[in-house]
Amino acid sequence: MSFLNKLIVSALPIVPKALVGQFSRRYIAGVTLQDAVRVIRDLNGKRLMATMDLLGEDIHEESQAAGMKSSLIQMFETIKRSNLDSNVSVKLSQLGLRIDKNVCFENVRSIVEEARKLGNFVRIDMEDSTTTNDTIEIYKRLRERGFENVGIVIQAYLKRSDADIRALVKLKANFRICKGIYIESSDIAYQDRDDIRRNFVLLVRTIIENGCYVGIATHDEYLVEKSYDLIQRNSLDRSRYEFQMLLGVREALRDKILSDGHRLRVYVPYGEQWYAYSMRRLKENPQIAGYIMKALFSPNGN
Ligand code: FDA
Repeated sequence: MSFLNKLIVSALPIVPKALVGQFSRRYIAGVTLQDAVRVIRDLNGKRLMATMDLLGEDIHEESQAAGMKSSLIQMFETIKRSNLDSNVSVKLSQLGLRIDKNVCFENVRSIVEEARKLGNFVRIDMEDSTTTNDTIEIYKRLRERGFENVGIVIQAYLKRSDADIRALVKLKANFRICKGIYIESSDIAYQDRDDIRRNFVLLVRTIIENGCYVGIATHDEYLVEKSYDLIQRNSLDRSRYEFQMLLGVREALRDKILSDGHRLRVYVPYGEQWYAYSMRRLKENPQIAGYIMKALFSPNGN
């Protein structure tokens, strides 16, 4: 990150919330479940699938985790009733991972059970590296209990990911591969863009060659092209993979992937916790943060 970008990112906390809201509108469906339904209906109309994400993580009280569980269960009912092509992404820290692993397991188990009843699917997002072991363990426990309608996320920047994938393919796991969004140390995570890309391709290849399902989550054209090669070389049927992108990001690339004949799922976040999510997106893309600063300090945009 350049010095100027670092400066912009460090200044973000002083930006008025309303201004952040204005710029992040394209990344967030809205505050309510009905907002998410509206956005997903529109995406489905464009032949795009969706995954719903109720914003809010790092919960530290059991009652809050129970509230999250109820909201997540309600999402599956709403998806069914509204006839949407959407599954749900969850974060284990929403469901009590930082409180008690067993409480978290029971919460996620009832969500996956409800999803199964309604013919739906739960994707467990991957959070920072302090949660990787527990997330994989909980995923394995769910599979041992016979749940097939649940998937995991593996981050290409982590050096351990190749070994994790080699263990998980034995369970015929369902994967999402992404680069990884948290700041991790160079002891455990690749820092160089080319190393992360190389690992991303290696992981996708291992998954495909072992006959598992893969969600290829990226907006990086280079990785999209490399994935196309793997799909073609392995004569991979459309039912064995999908591309995934975040709401509001690189829509031209999204349209191209779709018109090239691939399936694509859009990650649709919503909820009252939109501010924390927006700040993370903005920190990730200081170019957009730069526009905010410009609007803030130069009302005419000059
Ligand atoms: P890269 O960051 O190089 O982006 C390529 C280009 O896309 C950029 O140059 C920019 O133009 C554009 N772009 C990317 N992100 C943008 C943004 N936010 N706003 C505007 N433009 C943007 N991470 C994680 O740790 N755990 C998880 O569970 C998930 N889950 C997840 C699901 C889905 C569907 C996606 C797409 C991503 C995630 N991620 C994630 C985030 C992921 O790890 C990664 O941080 C981002 O996808 C950015 O990486 P890219 O591969 O897109 O490349």
